[in-house]
Amino acid sequence: MGPDTLHNDETNHLWVGGVRVADLAEEYGTPLYVMDESTMRRRVQEFVRLLAETELPTRLVYAGKAFLCQAMAGWLKPFGVGLDVVSGGELYTALAADYDPAAIVFHGNVKPGAEIRYALEAGVGQIVVDSLAELQSIEREAAALGVRARILLRLTPGIDAHTHAFIRTGQFDSKFGFGLADGIGDAAVKSALDLPHLDLIGFHAHIGSQILEAEPFFANLEALLEYALKWYRQVGYWPRVLDIGGGFGVRYGEDDDPPDLGPTFRRIAAAVREMTPAEARLPELAIEPGRSIVGEAGVTLYRVGALKRVPGGKRYLAVDGGMGDNIRPALYQAFYPARLDGKATNERTDEFTVAGRYCESGDILVPSIRLPEPGVGDLLVTLVTGAYNYSMASNYNRIPRPAVVLVADGEASVWVERESWADLVRHDRPYAAVPTPNDV
Ligand SMILES: Cc1ncc(COP(=O)(O)O)c(C=O)c1O
Repeated sequence: MGPDTLHNDETNHLWVGGVRVADLAEEYGTPLYVMDESTMRRRVQEFVRLLAETELPTRLVYAGKAFLCQAMAGWLKPFGVGLDVVSGGELYTALAADYDPAAIVFHGNVKPGAEIRYALEAGVGQIVVDSLAELQSIEREAAALGVRARILLRLTPGIDAHTHAFIRTGQFDSKFGFGLADGIGDAAVKSALDLPHLDLIGFHAHIGSQILEAEPFFANLEALLEYALKWYRQVGYWPRVLDIGGGFGVRYGEDDDPPDLGPTFRRIAAAVREMTPAEARLPELAIEPGRSIVGEAGVTLYRVGALKRVPGGKRYLAVDGGMGDNIRPALYQAFYPARLDGKATNERTDEFTVAGRYCESGDILVPSIRLPEPGVGDLLVTLVTGAYNYSMASNYNRIPRPAVVLVADGEASVWVERESWADLVRHDRPYAAVPTPNDV
């Protein structure tokens, strides 16, 4: 529950990164995304350490889809880690921050030709291929540019991680990747090895997100190794990279108990050593965490705008944000803890439904939570909002997206400015009269 991120003082006022949330709200307005630098730094360093302990060649790749803006890419750069992007827009953002293109991994299950060209021209390090059609289009674009594209094939190894269906990707009927059950993976490997402008550097499999068990990560790696061995025996091909994706769970609620990843990584390293043929080189082991780096670093500040008790006794607390800045509760019933600033948590007197301001009955941020007695104008803080909140935000109802502020050692700096109403109409063209059959 991001306990390291949010602190309260003796008057129950909440602090993040050494700054009072009330001061942040006052200065930058609400809703407001706040990212705590020290939490992100600790997470990156933990992954770097876990990978180093495997004593394998390894690579940490941050999954930008969880949270990306120019400043995030700029912040990440000195760590020397990889960056996973899934669109031309994410790639553009990374390059705008001067991210080393060689450290960029380009993902996505549909990559338009123009985006493949852009990636190849920019010199991205790796492209993760998701379909047979895409193999052909990368071959075409690479041939036109006279380059050889370094690719990985995204495989679906048939591992059913126990997480919400919408964020589960490793099972055979996933929309992502090449299934290993129906021979489509084999067809992809054959093509990739045959096509002259493709350099098949390895295999990738990401089995889902918010996974709270260790076993599926190991099973995923084992499936990739077994598949690689099959090709080694058949044609002598052995991958240079095995990328097991991200998906490491975080603590949203008290029941979420992410596993200690140390033993899992050690087991993974042992399996890689054991299963790599004696004459082959150890492959590089890559991981792509997103949520587990930024999730617990983020909190969102809202102002309470309305309080209602409806027939039946249910109490609504409505805030000045909602599904436009956090779609995850509406999209897949994601749970977020919440706190009221300046109110003692041991005085949680009643049960509330935290509603957003968007014109949907489903715009509920927290279906049921015990809180101290709130007042209109209070600050409500939702926790663990660093991942897939800002990155999934929309302008539904023509509501500008909030600012993102980074806090570090008692200082705040704006990473993304709050959108204005003028931003909302920036791409609109004014109405120009069109011929109509009838006058209005
Ligand atoms: C290919 C791939 N890698 C990494 C991730 C990051 O997952 P997470 O944020 O759960 O670590 C995702 C998430 O969808 C993904 O699809």
